[in-house]
This record gives sequence, C-alpha cells and structure tokens, in this order.
Amino acid sequence: MDRIMVINSSPRAPVSNSLKYSQIFLKYAGARRQYFRLNRKNHRRLAEKTRDFDHILLVFPLYADGIPVTLLNFLKIWEENLPCPRPSVSVMANCGFLEPRQNDTAVDMVRLFCEKNGLPFASSLKIGGGEAILSTPFSFMARRRIKKLCRAILRQKPARIQVTMPLSPRLFAKAADSYWTAYGQKYGTSKEQMRTMDIEKQS
Ligand SMILES: Cc1cc2nc3c(=O)[nH]c(=O)nc-3n(C[C@H](O)[C@H](O)[C@H](O)COP(=O)(O)O)c2cc1C
Repeated sequence: MDRIMVINSSPRAPVSNSLKYSQIFLKYAGARRQYFRLNRKNHRRLAEKTRDFDHILLVFPLYADGIPVTLLNFLKIWEENLPCPRPSVSVMANCGFLEPRQNDTAVDMVRLFCEKNGLPFASSLKIGGGEAILSTPFSFMARRRIKKLCRAILRQKPARIQVTMPLSPRLFAKAADSYWTAYGQKYGTSKEQMRTMDIEKQS
C-alpha cells in the first residue's frame, strides 16, 4: 500500500481525540501517508485530492450512534467526485461510551457507502472509551490496536479490530461522573447545569 490519505472527520478536528488517534497512526505509517482534516469549506478539495492516494483512512467520532454530519456531508460530495481507479477505505471510529460495539452502526454506514460506490472496504478499528483511554494506564492498548490497523492497511490484509478499557460499566460510569463533575467545577459549571441544554449556550 503506497499512499495513505488520513482524513480527520471530527467536527472539532483541531482539538479532537480523532487528532490524537490520527497522530499515533501517522507515526506508525511512516512516510507513505498524508494527514488532512475536514472543515466546512474543504470537502470538494479533499474529495478531489483522494485521486492522489491508494487508500483513505477516515478517522471520526461517534455522534448520536452514527457518523458526524461533517463526514456525512463530505461523503455526499465525494460520491459525485469519485476517483478511478477507486482507492480502498478503512475507518478508525471512537466513541464516548465504554463499548466499542457502539460504533457498529457508524462503521456500517461507511461500509454501505463503499459498497454502493464500488470502493473496496478494508479495515476497521472501533475504540470504546475514546474520550478517556489515552490519558489512562490503558493507553498502550489503544496504541497497539492502532499499530495493528496500520499493519493491516500496509499489508492489504483487511482486519476488524476493537479496543476499550478493561473496566466494568459500573466503574467506568463512576469514573466518568467524577471526571466530568471536576471538569465542570474547573469552569464554574455545576452538575445540575450540565444536565440542561443551557450548557450548549455557555460553550
Ligand atoms: C454531539 C455528540 C454526540 C455524541 N454521541 C455519542 C454516542 O451516540 N455514543 C457515544 O458513545 N459517544 C457519543 N459522543 C461522544 C464522542 O463520540 C466522544 O467524545 C469522542 O471521543 C469525540 O471524538 P472527537 O474529539 O474526535 O470529536 C458524542 C459526542 C457529541 C459531542
């Protein structure tokens, strides 16, 4: 596999977890890759740019059990500007909940897009606890799986990979509650305020 285009499709790409996951991938992929991030204005340019690559890796967060709207909009534009020959496509999806399977539908959305448009779907990595794992002692587990994804892409041997933290759901919920409560406190926001839609107006 010669040229890999890594597209960070998070709506908050410059400060995203997807950026951190992309950076780890880029480190393992060596010189044969290039990183891009989607923004509202560059969908057409990036769609055209896919012509220069053999493989596209879509890196994105799970939003409401699906792909984020930035990625959806990109796919609509890409569908009208698909290169020939078609590059193959892999995905690295991360979600807030503990279970990697939460990403299943989002990965299937991309897989279906590929099937419909004659793009070979290659590998997938589903990351659970994606907001947290890199800042815990389990970070090495995520790094290892990203390396595995990279190897699968470079060797053109499709793989289905997943990773999460080895915690019980109850412990994870407890740890997440403490983390977000302390985070809110840091910015003068109470737990009650965080439970309302007003939190959107504040940010
Ligand atoms: C609007 C919104 C919707 C989300 N929906 C889900 C969801 O359905 N399931 C889930 O596990 N995490 C969900 N999350 C959590 C994100 O997937 C998680 O925070 C992820 O690490 C964000 O990645 P990013 O920093 O690359 O954007 C959601 C986050 C936001 C902001």
